Amino acid sequence: MERRSVLAMGAFGAAAMVAGGIGAAPALASPARGPKPVGSGDPQSLRALGAAIDLPIGSALTPQDITDFAAVSGGQFSVVMGANAMKWQTVEPAQGSYDWTDADQLMAFAKANHQLVRGHTLLWHNQLPTWLTDGVAAGTITKSKLWALLEKHIFTEVGRYKGRIWQWDVANEFFTDANPSGINPNDWWIQQLGESVIPQAFKWAHQADPHALLFYNDYNVTGEDGTNAKSDAVYAWATKQRDAGVPIHGIGTQAHLDTQYGFDPQRFQQDLERFGKAGFKVAVTEADVRTFVDAAATQVPTDSLAQFAQPFEYSAMLQAAISVPAVISFTVWGWTDSLSWVPGTFSGEGYACLYDVNQQPKQAYYTLQKDLELAAEGAPRRAPLPRA
Ligand code: XIL
Repeated sequence: MERRSVLAMGAFGAAAMVAGGIGAAPALASPARGPKPVGSGDPQSLRALGAAIDLPIGSALTPQDITDFAAVSGGQFSVVMGANAMKWQTVEPAQGSYDWTDADQLMAFAKANHQLVRGHTLLWHNQLPTWLTDGVAAGTITKSKLWALLEKHIFTEVGRYKGRIWQWDVANEFFTDANPSGINPNDWWIQQLGESVIPQAFKWAHQADPHALLFYNDYNVTGEDGTNAKSDAVYAWATKQRDAGVPIHGIGTQAHLDTQYGFDPQRFQQDLERFGKAGFKVAVTEADVRTFVDAAATQVPTDSLAQFAQPFEYSAMLQAAISVPAVISFTVWGWTDSLSWVPGTFSGEGYACLYDVNQQPKQAYYTLQKDLELAAEGAPRRAPLPRA
């Protein structure tokens, strides 16, 4: 596909690498008419259809996605990320004592299935180890110690997987939901170390793995809340940092939608385009579309119109991503309702994923499949109409 050469996707040509390391079989680089992508025998899988337009389609995975549902987790997706596997709380539960079980499992699964990996996430106020937050609260971890601990964390984790992570979500969710938005002064990291902690994290991550594409990732950066407040603030901040030499290569839009709020596909696309035109890679990182449901175990929408809204919103997001060449990956935040984060986070909500609680594909899945298919083939040509 000329429109979106995989080799041109990474600032450093990093996109051509697969999880097996640079130089391994470029499973995703297959041109539309070239060999079928490795890792999927199904030419109608999302990953195969995405490969035909050089747009990796992916999902966050929990350990259970890997152990229990490997066929879909490996067969449908060409890029994966750990739902929690690479968060600081997970990898260093006690100070100086590392647990790479889940992260290594993800990397091994990705390698076996020829999947790219998005690393998620290095600098975030959530899911920090308690030894770290308690130590800071108690004053045993001073400001200078905290700087040193963060540096060690980034070099240790990014270094461990050096050359095998395509994109890193370096910093996550630093901007307020206010209008106008800005860096949240109450964010835990900003309170401890000030705003310079964000560019510093990018610099360390870049030193630790110069080939990884480094992303700033957040929600509401593509108009999901009906405004462009956070999008504007992140745009202004990211371009300023980049122009000052900070190695920030991409903007990730989480894209968690909720049918109760509505959605503006034009704004979504324009925002993706704006980041792209400024020279950033763009990634749709955590797409899902939640709604109110009967119960967490069954997740049947209480409003039947939600069953129509969901495929529409998924499709609008994917179509926007397809239309903007700067978008280098489209990943959902979990593919089955049975393992989704939504019921545990948003009271009464669920049904957010492409597959239901029994791992059966929903209409949203088929809609994405059709969108990718049409994008790869182009619309069928028709005979010209007679003149009226
Ligand atoms: C979520 C995980 O999916 C849950 O398992 C965990 O309990 C909380 O975090 N935005 C992000 C992700 O950037 O890291 C979050 O993941 C979902 C929202």
